[in-house]
Amino acid sequence: MKILVTGGTGYIGSHTVVELQQKGYEVIIVDNLSNSDINVLSNIEKITGIRPEFEEFDLIDPKRTSEFFKKHNDIKAIIHFAAYKAVGESVENPLMYYGNNLYSLVNILKGMKESGIENFVFSSSCTVYGQPDELPVSEKAPIKKAMSPYGNTKQISEEIITDTINSNSQQLNAILLRYFNPIGANETALIGELPLGVPNNLMPFITQTVIGLREQLKVFGDDYQTPDGTAIRDYIHVVDLAKAHVVAVERLVADKCLKKPEIFNLGTGNGYSVLEVINSFEKVTGEKLNYKIVGRRPGDITKVWANPEFAEKVLGWKAEKGIDEMTFSAWEWEKAIAKNK
Ligand code: UD1
Repeated sequence: MKILVTGGTGYIGSHTVVELQQKGYEVIIVDNLSNSDINVLSNIEKITGIRPEFEEFDLIDPKRTSEFFKKHNDIKAIIHFAAYKAVGESVENPLMYYGNNLYSLVNILKGMKESGIENFVFSSSCTVYGQPDELPVSEKAPIKKAMSPYGNTKQISEEIITDTINSNSQQLNAILLRYFNPIGANETALIGELPLGVPNNLMPFITQTVIGLREQLKVFGDDYQTPDGTAIRDYIHVVDLAKAHVVAVERLVADKCLKKPEIFNLGTGNGYSVLEVINSFEKVTGEKLNYKIVGRRPGDITKVWANPEFAEKVLGWKAEKGIDEMTFSAWEWEKAIAKNK
């Protein structure tokens, strides 16, 4: 069974390709390599023994996208990762974000119609909840005004998908997966997160600091209303997250998707503060991190963690790996990058 993974050479995409292949799915990747490396394909092959089919092009090109779908009408389901994801960059350059993230989605949905492809998994984010009124946050929590153009592209994308389903203009079965904070890497340390330039996210900044690429981690704020004053997130191992995509595809293909679209939170249900992540990292690696507390980062929320019960009940999926496994695998990956330089 053939599955299209857009953005399949990226961080979450590559881990999902591995999990799909290990379950016997045939994978075709479309990626423009704007934020990933072609060598990821060889590393996926080293893990699974299979090199995924690959086409390099930009999904914001309507003609090229339409041609692709005409040629590949045997695709059974699509997992759509390909998008820009840096919050700060989206504030500086909103049209780049709206243009890329929304046009590509529209082109894919049109291509699906033309080729009669019905099953779609969308990569969304817990950012749609903003700072939720209640924790843990369930899928029923209200959507809050987006705090960045990036977050807004996720909200609008969810609406585009929902409107398309409701219009009955095409048969579309969709699952929207709202990720909390994915970190860590495949246990082989052959694939992982590869930030271009200075990382925005916490985990790659920690590992790059310890390996010597950055001087010091800035901890953004210790005056939050949390036990140690630093902000709390629900970190989830990227391999657990990848596995949820396989289960979502299985559900769509088996035609078990009841509500359209179906929405799932993907988190562990546990929140960890920035200092707790640092403590876990130092404990499992034996390394010391150079960090200092600075002021809050604009736009950051105080705390968020998932209620993952709905995903467990309906998808039969549950995150299995704990914070120590996450920080350990992130460090193994950083060391592997340094070794292969
Ligand atoms: C946010 C979004 C997430 C999005 C991601 C993309 C929310 C709740 N989450 O994640 O949906 O996919 O951006 O980038 O809006 N931190 C530091 N120092 C650093 C970096 C981070 O202290 O150098 C802290 C942050 O203040 C935050 C935590 O670490 O408290 C996690 O930050 P980060 O990894 O950037 O993720 P989010 O901002 O939670």
